[in-house]
Amino acid sequence: YGDFNSKIDYVFKVVLIGDSAVGKSQLLSRFAKNEFSMDSKATLGVEFQTKTLVIDQKTVKAQIWDTAGQERYRAVTSAYYRGAVGAMLVYDMTKRQTFDHMTRWLEELRGHADKNIVIMLIGNKCDLEGLRAVPVEDAQEFAERENLCFMETSALEATNVETAFLTALTDIY
Ligand code: GTP
Ligand code: MG
Repeated sequence: YGDFNSKIDYVFKVVLIGDSAVGKSQLLSRFAKNEFSMDSKATLGVEFQTKTLVIDQKTVKAQIWDTAGQERYRAVTSAYYRGAVGAMLVYDMTKRQTFDHMTRWLEELRGHADKNIVIMLIGNKCDLEGLRAVPVEDAQEFAERENLCFMETSALEATNVETAFLTALTDIY
């Protein structure tokens, strides 16, 4: 028989990218472990976590890679993108600059990743509505123009985190 519970039908590699401090690591921590930390440290190099879920009666193992937003802490870029079938492009909706940088991140992504990669634009920290610096329309317009899915999330309040990853994984599938 083998171990019934360990049967994996697909392994999907998904990469997180975006400026430092937008909340990439906390989104991953919320999704993979349902944990959140206010004093999250900047990521050095590359880390990853996995989560196994069932999509359409198939067991899918999501292997989610997280790297430093800060240039000086980033590891070799091409290795990071190699084999990725999904990407979460994350900005902080309270910091306009992190959204303006999405074009650069998208350029890097498109330069290194497979051309069929599923890309999700994520406006994180939507719990801080009073500090919003990126109108939802701007993000929607950008997403439409670039052919991306778009969602606002809060890793802190667990808003849309599961939905965002599940939507991406289902699109990949
Ligand atoms: P780098 O690793 O440097 O690229 O940063 P990062 O994008 O991984 O950011 P990280 O997840 O470490 O979060 C940065 C800060 O934002 C931390 O203080 C988090 O607690 C905070 N943070 C992350 N997500 C949210 C959120 O949804 N809401 C609020 N209010 N704060 C958040
Ligand atoms: Mg990080």
